[in-house]
Amino acid sequence: MTNPSNKNTTNQSWGGRFKQSNHELVQAFGASINFDYRLAQYDIEGSIAHAMMLNKVGVLTDEEKIIIIDGLNQVLTEINNNTFTYSVALEDIHMNIEARLIKICGEAGKKLHTGRSRNDQIATDIRLFVRANLKTLMTQVLELQNAFVTLAKDNINTIMPGFTHLQAAQPVSFAHHLMAYVAMLTRDKERLEDCYKRTNTLPLGAAALAGTSYPIDREYTAQLLGFDRICQNSLDAVSDRDFAIEFTSSASIMMMHLSRLCEEIILWSSAQFNFIELSDGFCTGSSIMPQKKNPDVAELIRGKTSRVYGNLTTLLTLMKSQPLAYNKDNQEDKEPLFDTVDTLSVCLEVLIAMIPAIGVKADVMRKSTLLGFTTATDLADYLVKKGLPFRDAHHVVGQTVAYCIEVDLDIAQLSLETLQSLHASIENDVFEVLSLEGSMNARDHLGGTAPNQVLAAIRRFESEQ
Ligand code: ARG
Repeated sequence: MTNPSNKNTTNQSWGGRFKQSNHELVQAFGASINFDYRLAQYDIEGSIAHAMMLNKVGVLTDEEKIIIIDGLNQVLTEINNNTFTYSVALEDIHMNIEARLIKICGEAGKKLHTGRSRNDQIATDIRLFVRANLKTLMTQVLELQNAFVTLAKDNINTIMPGFTHLQAAQPVSFAHHLMAYVAMLTRDKERLEDCYKRTNTLPLGAAALAGTSYPIDREYTAQLLGFDRICQNSLDAVSDRDFAIEFTSSASIMMMHLSRLCEEIILWSSAQFNFIELSDGFCTGSSIMPQKKNPDVAELIRGKTSRVYGNLTTLLTLMKSQPLAYNKDNQEDKEPLFDTVDTLSVCLEVLIAMIPAIGVKADVMRKSTLLGFTTATDLADYLVKKGLPFRDAHHVVGQTVAYCIEVDLDIAQLSLETLQSLHASIENDVFEVLSLEGSMNARDHLGGTAPNQVLAAIRRFESEQ
């Protein structure tokens, strides 16, 4: 029999049953402290709640509880002051903090881990992390929406070509276009709110996988940590990472929206569109082409979208073959999760600053709307109101457009006689219908681009906040 005191192990926390130390590669390979140090404040928050609960149920004395909580607060202070020394030998944030706690408060510190495992501990830490970041992100989404709304208010009567297939389709209010992004962001925010509900569920108490033999009070821990619910199955509690996937999925959808926006910003700021002027503060030059002003920031947000999609794929793939319950694979959830939070947050931050710095070139937008027969549908609708079936009206207008292309004129530039030769029912009132304002104002119903409807959409958004 081996002398228990004479064992060659590296890790004090779990080394009891080991005869040999780890291979030299294993320590660094298995350690997560290089990234999970970011969870320190949540780990300590969870530990304080755990200590209070252990005291409430009689596992820790009042004195031990006080010593532990004071010790944990001291560790947090050291971390915040950058005087804490992280050690790879201590593998992860949990053991780094626990080792320091034991140094600070001795025997009492050794009792903190009673009735808990790193499995339910890490599950709790990342839920606290996601929960906190969801709050910040929701605030940022609202700030971005407000930036759009401010720009929209100045552009209710700014006419731009609305596109389908990136071909000029119909005149729309630029504000209406901006409010489309506000609508997307509202759904994005709702997805975060929804994810928050499921994230805000307490896994602590599941211990390693099966629960614990101590008379723990999970309701009390949940209450202390502000969790609305408690994970109802211990196996699920330690192994569930749905909330992280759900968050990254919501983040991916939001990044997709930001990427579409950025794509439009890139197009609009090109010399060919020339709809907007991006402020110099958000562009860069070229080292060879002196004329260049590149929309790098928008391009980078479009590019960063791929990182977040990659993170979602990583998390989904990470989970797909794991048997219940906890597996070390789960350690791989941190970096994609952190990266998703960081990427989404910085992209929102940059956009919140960039949107107000957009210079709108209303004249160019207007001139561009006059190209491509954007009021052709209005002429067809006009003929329908004169009694033609829509299909026939569509055909007549198609022929009118073909004629306009031949003579290089817009429909509105044709004389009344010419228009009447195309269809006898056309009268002088057609020119109002064929004007850009006439076209835009005509779409006067909920969700339409008529300025009063766009204003109503803005008011609706504002009243919902
Ligand atoms: N670093 C681990 C993780 O990120 C913490 C939990 C470790 N648990 C264990 N039984 N090895 O998932």
